[in-house]
Amino acid sequence: MAEVAKLKTPDGKELDLPIVEGTERERALDISKLRSSADLITLDEGYVNTGSCTSAITFLDGEKGILRYRGYPIEQLAQQCHFMEVCYLLIYGELPTHEQFENFSRTLRRHTLLHEDMRLFYDGFPRDAHPMAILGSVVGAMSTFYQDSLDPHDPDQVDISIVRLLAKLPTIAAFAYKKSVGQPYVYPSNDLSYCANFLRMMFAVPSEPYEVDPDFVSALNLLLIVHADHEQNCSTSTVRMVGSSLANLFASISAGISALWGPLHGGANEACVQMLEQIRRDGSNVKKYVDMAKDKHNNFRLMGFGHRVYKNFDPRAKIIKAACDKVLAKQKVRDPIFDVAVELERVALSDPYFIERKLYPNVDFYSGVIYRAIGIPLQMFTVLFAIGRLPGWIAHWVEMHASPTTKICRPRQIYIGPTERPFLPMDKR
Ligand code: SDX
Repeated sequence: MAEVAKLKTPDGKELDLPIVEGTERERALDISKLRSSADLITLDEGYVNTGSCTSAITFLDGEKGILRYRGYPIEQLAQQCHFMEVCYLLIYGELPTHEQFENFSRTLRRHTLLHEDMRLFYDGFPRDAHPMAILGSVVGAMSTFYQDSLDPHDPDQVDISIVRLLAKLPTIAAFAYKKSVGQPYVYPSNDLSYCANFLRMMFAVPSEPYEVDPDFVSALNLLLIVHADHEQNCSTSTVRMVGSSLANLFASISAGISALWGPLHGGANEACVQMLEQIRRDGSNVKKYVDMAKDKHNNFRLMGFGHRVYKNFDPRAKIIKAACDKVLAKQKVRDPIFDVAVELERVALSDPYFIERKLYPNVDFYSGVIYRAIGIPLQMFTVLFAIGRLPGWIAHWVEMHASPTTKICRPRQIYIGPTERPFLPMDKR
C-alpha cells in the first residue's frame, strides 16, 4: 500500500495524498487529484517546491553535491568519456558499445553541413548580433528546411532530427562567430572529432594551415560533458513545456536556447567573466563586490554563485576549477581573472552571508576562464553551454514523449485582478 499524507481542508474535507518515491528515495506528494477532490490548487512561484515530472535521466543531490547521468557519477564521465558517448548515454539510456559509438559518430559526421541556403540567414543579421540570438533563430528555422522530420510521434523522423541537431549545432555556432569577425565560414572537416571539428571551424582561416591543440580539445570535451544535462533546470523545463504542445523538436530546442540565454541561467558564464573583469579593473577589490552582493539595496549579485538545487559545492565547479589549473599551467598562461575568481571564492565562502544561504560557486563560475584560455570570445560562452546542453534537452524531450502519462503543460493560477465591473463607454471614462 503506497504511503499517503493526510490533508485536512478548512471546509472539513480530509484527503489522502499519495507519496511518490523515486529510486534515490526522493519523495513527493501526488496532488493530481487535489483540485477535483478539494477545489484547491497549490501555488509555488518559480516551482521551488514543485516537481513537474518523473525522470530517469539525471539525478542531483543538492545537499551532497552529487550529479549523475543515468546513474554514472559526473566525475567519472568527465574524466573518461568522449562527449559523443555522453550524448548517446543521455539520449538512449546506456553507454554505447564500441560499435554503437562508431555508428553514431559516423552518422553524425554525415550531417555536419548546413543547407547552403541556411548560410543566407547570416547575411541578414547585424554584425554585432549576439550569437545566442543567431543560434535560436537558425535552429528554429531548421523546421523549414527539414519539413520531412517534424512529427514528434514518428520515431524515424525524431531520430533524424536528433542527428541533424547534434551534428549541425557546432556548425551553426561557428558560422555565427565567423560572421561576427568577418571571416570566411570554415566548413566542417569530417575526419576530425566533434570538439576538434568545432575548434577548427571557429579558428581556422583558409589562408593558412590550422593545427588543433589537443589540450584545448580535451578541455572543451570536459566542459561539454559537465554541461550536458541538469534535470529540470529552466531551459530543459522550457523544452519540455514547448514540446508538450506537440511542437517539433527544432522549435522546442530553439525555445530552450532562448531560456538558457538569460543571465540567471546559462548567460551567467558570460556575466561572470564580465564581473571578474570589472573587479580586476577596480583593483581586484574583491571585498567591495562581496559587500555589494550582500547589500539588499543593490541588485548586484555574484554571477556564477548560488544555485537553486546545490546547497553544497556544485560538483561541476570543482571539476572545471581543476581543469582551469591544468589548462593554464600547460599553456603557461596566468589569467588574472582566474586569480580574481579564486580570491572571490575564498572571501565569499568565509562570509556568513554566503555560508548561511549556502551559496557556492556554480558551473558558470570557472567555465569562462577555460573558454578564454581556449580563445573562445566572451559572447560565445553561452553558445558553448548550449552545445553542451543539447543532448540533455533532447533526452528530456524524447523521455517526455515516451511517457504514457504526458499531457500538455498548462499550470493554473490564483487570480488577483479586479472582480466583475460594468463596461464604461469611452466618453464616460
Ligand atoms: C545555471 O537550475 C539549474 O540546474 C541551472 C544550471 C544548469 O546546469 O542548468 O545549474 C545552470 O543556471 C547555474 C546558475 C547560474 N546563475 C548565476 O550564477 C546567477 C547568480 N545566481 C543567482 O541569481 C541565484 O543563485 C540563482 C538564480 C542561481 C538561484 O536563485 P534562487 O534559487 O531563486 O535563490 P534566490 O534568488 O531566492 O536566493 C536565495 C538568497 C537570496 O537572499 P535572501 O533574500 O534570502 O536574503 O540568496 C541570495 C538571494 O539574494 N543570493 C545571492 C546570490 N544568489 C542568491 N546573493 C548574492 N549573489 C548571488 N549570486
